[in-house]
Amino acid sequence: MGSETQSKPTHIGIIMDGNGRWAEARSLPRTAGHRKGAETVKAVVEEAKKLEIEYLTLFAFSLENWSRPQDEVSELMSLLRRYLKSEAAEFHKQGARLKVIGDRTRLDKDICDAIVSLEDLTKDNTDITICIAISYGSRDEIFKAAQKFAHDCIEKGVNPSDTQIDDFAACLMTSGIPDPDLIIRTSGELRISNFLLWQAAYAEFYFSPVNWPDFSVKEFHNALEHYANRQRRFGGVIPQQSTRQ
Ligand code: FPP
Repeated sequence: MGSETQSKPTHIGIIMDGNGRWAEARSLPRTAGHRKGAETVKAVVEEAKKLEIEYLTLFAFSLENWSRPQDEVSELMSLLRRYLKSEAAEFHKQGARLKVIGDRTRLDKDICDAIVSLEDLTKDNTDITICIAISYGSRDEIFKAAQKFAHDCIEKGVNPSDTQIDDFAACLMTSGIPDPDLIIRTSGELRISNFLLWQAAYAEFYFSPVNWPDFSVKEFHNALEHYANRQRRFGGVIPQQSTRQ
């Protein structure tokens, strides 16, 4: 792997943080922040499509978020349900492919059904892949991949020593999706919070001080501008520097 500057990321991951603080600052219930945040999702997806970004992964609900108060969890599930159902036709019309990653065993059946039917409806679309992480935790994903990998080896009678790293990566929920080039986190927090831990090995990070409900197309462009100025070395060296002592 060498040095690389790319003007546009192929895959952007977004940790949409700060909905609660946005609402609390306005003396509104936290759920109002999530509702406003869902509007931001639509605007950012539209802009990503316009900019011909190929993959966009949105962290919508973590495994840890199940421990939030019941009314907040219910509101988030209702928003996701509405989004998956109301956006279905629009997604397809825009040539977007939907993929959902996460532990579906904890989701209501109608949400699972909406996911399965939208994934199936949009599976051949190629303009943009929108990957939504719901009930997702990266350690859980890696652990399940390790279990699947072990089972596959036993079933196929393959010696694990004869396998390649890509054989393991193929067991992750993101199989078939390239690693993120850029990860954006809003709200000023400087953490990765169990998001795409394996896949983010060489991602560039952009931390925006803006809470997600206020994240604008302009701020999205700021993130892209920062990315365009990064020199990606993937652990290598910049060619002209390699002659330095
Ligand atoms: C983090 O803010 C955000 C979430 C836990 C939920 C994100 C969900 C949405 C943006 C809306 C629905 C999504 C889609 C795809 C339609 P927080 O509540 O942790 O904020 P805080 O850190 O200020 O408390």
